[in-house]
Amino acid sequence: MPYKHKIAEQIAQVVNLDLATVTKMLETPKDQKMGDLAFPCFQLAKTLRKAPPVIAADVAAQLTPALQEAGVPVSNLQVVGAYINFFLDQQAVARDVITAVLTQGENYGAQDLGGGAHVTIDLSSPNIAKPFSMGHLRSTVIGNALANLLEKMNYSPVRINHLGDWGTQFGKLIVAYKLWGSEEAVRENPIPELLRLYIKFHEEAKAHPELEDQGREWFKKLEDGDADAEQLWQWFRDESLQEFNKTYELMGIKFDSLHGEAFYNDKMDRVVNELEAKGLLVEDEGAMVVKLDEYDMPPCLIKKSDGATLYATRDLAAALYRQDTYKFTKALYVVGNEQRLHFRQVFKVLEKMGYEWAQEMHHIPFGMMLKDGKKMSTRKGKVILLDEVLQTAVDDVKKVIAEKNPQLENQDKVTEQVGVGAIIFHDLKNYRMNDINFSWEEMLTFEGETGPYVQYTHARANSILRKAGYVENTAVTLPEGALEGPESWAVVTLLLNFPHVIKRAADEFDPSVLGKYIIDLAQAFNKFYANVRVLAEDEAVKQARLQLVAATAIALKEGLRLLGLEAPAEM
Ligand code: ARG
Repeated sequence: MPYKHKIAEQIAQVVNLDLATVTKMLETPKDQKMGDLAFPCFQLAKTLRKAPPVIAADVAAQLTPALQEAGVPVSNLQVVGAYINFFLDQQAVARDVITAVLTQGENYGAQDLGGGAHVTIDLSSPNIAKPFSMGHLRSTVIGNALANLLEKMNYSPVRINHLGDWGTQFGKLIVAYKLWGSEEAVRENPIPELLRLYIKFHEEAKAHPELEDQGREWFKKLEDGDADAEQLWQWFRDESLQEFNKTYELMGIKFDSLHGEAFYNDKMDRVVNELEAKGLLVEDEGAMVVKLDEYDMPPCLIKKSDGATLYATRDLAAALYRQDTYKFTKALYVVGNEQRLHFRQVFKVLEKMGYEWAQEMHHIPFGMMLKDGKKMSTRKGKVILLDEVLQTAVDDVKKVIAEKNPQLENQDKVTEQVGVGAIIFHDLKNYRMNDINFSWEEMLTFEGETGPYVQYTHARANSILRKAGYVENTAVTLPEGALEGPESWAVVTLLLNFPHVIKRAADEFDPSVLGKYIIDLAQAFNKFYANVRVLAEDEAVKQARLQLVAATAIALKEGLRLLGLEAPAEM
């Protein structure tokens, strides 16, 4: 409640308490009949040595002129027992908010917290030659929304796709390809074919463990720069990336960097040397590690006994590189919860190396995507392919739109925007740490808490404006009775809260704060439209109501954009 601060300031002056204390004491009554805010006076009884209701009456008498003088839009103060209840001047608030949204347009809610500083966001990061998993989808969607939110707070986000393009799996893949693969098959259908080879390798290796050794040998060759190995690696990488790019394009996601794990191959010595120079590297059963006993963590593995570097070594190299390149003030890693220990270790090692910026590194974990309550796994082939998911969503939406609005122009484009939006929103409406049960029904309906519902509400608001011949106009005059009643007020207060909601979503690295809000806004708007006659006889009343519709459309569209969804004007 944005006026909370202003009201608290006035109370603080009258009762002689500090602002923070007063702000904490102010309550939001459950029942709107008790006002928009309430201030209990019990706590003051001790110091003032009077009965709380007496204090409430005294304070209220002094507050009325003070609030007026400060221009706080409070229309009424009521003393009920020990409480002072504040009623906002709904007309004044509505006018202010609608004016603000209409004049600022898509910039409404923008705040300068970052001063343009860089924040690196490590997101998506699928593994080459494997399908894009649901976990990577979650990372992509959450990371992209966080980047948008931080940008709105005037940080400069750097979206980094830390591709998993290095590791022993490439040795295995080369073995599998040489034994059972063909060039045509990979070219024709790269990811499914590479996946087939990967799965076959693991099946065959059960009976023929020597395959594992061959895999290790080929990876060693790759690391040593063997031309044959390198060429295959490059080819697998190119083919996979081309496939991933189709998905990113469909989802409207762009990256600022595609430096994956392999990019750091020639940057590992620096890490190892620096750790050595700082006396942090110790030998442990032939391997080189950094001990983290004092933090109750297992040691961080830097180098295996055969000299190979590890996932953590690459992340250390990447962190140093990113700090050098971007001078980030924050670094986010949007990666599943199962990698929690890995990131705690990496951050601690950087701290031990003496880097203060290690304090500003955040792992942003998230829960799993479950199918029928079970984890999806690539190895066992029990995996829903993202392409399939996207295609099914788009096909489904196509049917609905063909039914609802067969005349629609750009049907293919809108269908895509809604199908993809359904998937993104399904992910972002829940707190990221919760596991998500993959459910078509929950994702795709045009009613209920879904992306299509919010998009549909936005399109509806636009169609109301179009049909009414609304002309953009930022001068808001509210005639008597235009926006009275709880349905209008509900929309107004939600619009009022928009800037706070996005700030909170950005502060807490939690897009679901915005996801939930935008459902509330869509629902409140639909209720308003069902109960208030927007196309009123009186021209001025109609104009004011249309302006509320226009302001809502702006907030819905901007909210959807921040979450990574398109908002088609018609659907
Ligand atoms: N490719 C990794 C995986 O799929 C995720 C990489 C996350 N980012 C990082 N900097 N470690 O598990």
